[in-house]
Amino acid sequence: MIVKIEHAIKNFGEVNVLDDVTLAINEGDKIAMLGPNGAGKTTLIRAILGYYKLNSGKIEVDGMDPVKERTKILKKISFIPQLPPPIKISLNDLIGYICTTSDIERESIVQEAKDMELDIDKNINKPFFKLSGGMKQKFLIAIALARKSELFIFDEPTANLDPKGRENFYNLLKNLDEKSSVVYITHRLEDLEGLTNRLVYLDIGKITDDKAI
Ligand SMILES: Nc1ncnc2c1ncn2[C@@H]1O[C@H](COP(=O)(O)OP(=O)(O)O)[C@@H](O)[C@H]1O
Ligand SMILES: [Mg+2]
Repeated sequence: MIVKIEHAIKNFGEVNVLDDVTLAINEGDKIAMLGPNGAGKTTLIRAILGYYKLNSGKIEVDGMDPVKERTKILKKISFIPQLPPPIKISLNDLIGYICTTSDIERESIVQEAKDMELDIDKNINKPFFKLSGGMKQKFLIAIALARKSELFIFDEPTANLDPKGRENFYNLLKNLDEKSSVVYITHRLEDLEGLTNRLVYLDIGKITDDKAI
């Protein structure tokens, strides 16, 4: 899986949020993406996922235009958003839906949830939106990891997690396939020790640093 971003420019009204971003995500890249609030990190991710059309420049995901081929590219990417979506159906129905629309097994979601110490049995009939912030995050992590995608994108996934939840998550990340690519947005680089091999720094819509670590 290769993502190519070339001279991406994205404006919201008068505001220039992505300002000529060029970046390639290669197979096996484990990228820590850092940058202050408002730098454009989430916007860049949403553009890769095909939710935003660029004002100019180009993005290719596995050779495809993410806006035109969004359904196809979303199948290839495991994504954890910064804010959990307001899903009304129960965990049980959500797992059922995911399993019928993909080739993920129910058991692997349940196993990953248990590895994240989410009491899935007790909460299985609860609507997703009624879980606590941390529990939602754990459940989204379980789904993302169960999918075994070629590209994982985590947008500040541990913000709501307790220390044990974080530790469990980092331990699970160690098991990811060497070939899979990861973009991990964080403000806590020190937590990712041993999990990343590249650091990308974004500031006011520009990449100001991109280096192997
Ligand atoms: N849908 C949107 N409409 C208008 N402005 C937006 C939208 N999404 C993000 N922005 C603006 O773009 C800038 C970058 O936001 P964002 O990509 O979320 O930053 P980060 O994830 O780095 O904190 C901010 O100034 C934010 O207000
Ligand atoms: Mg963000």
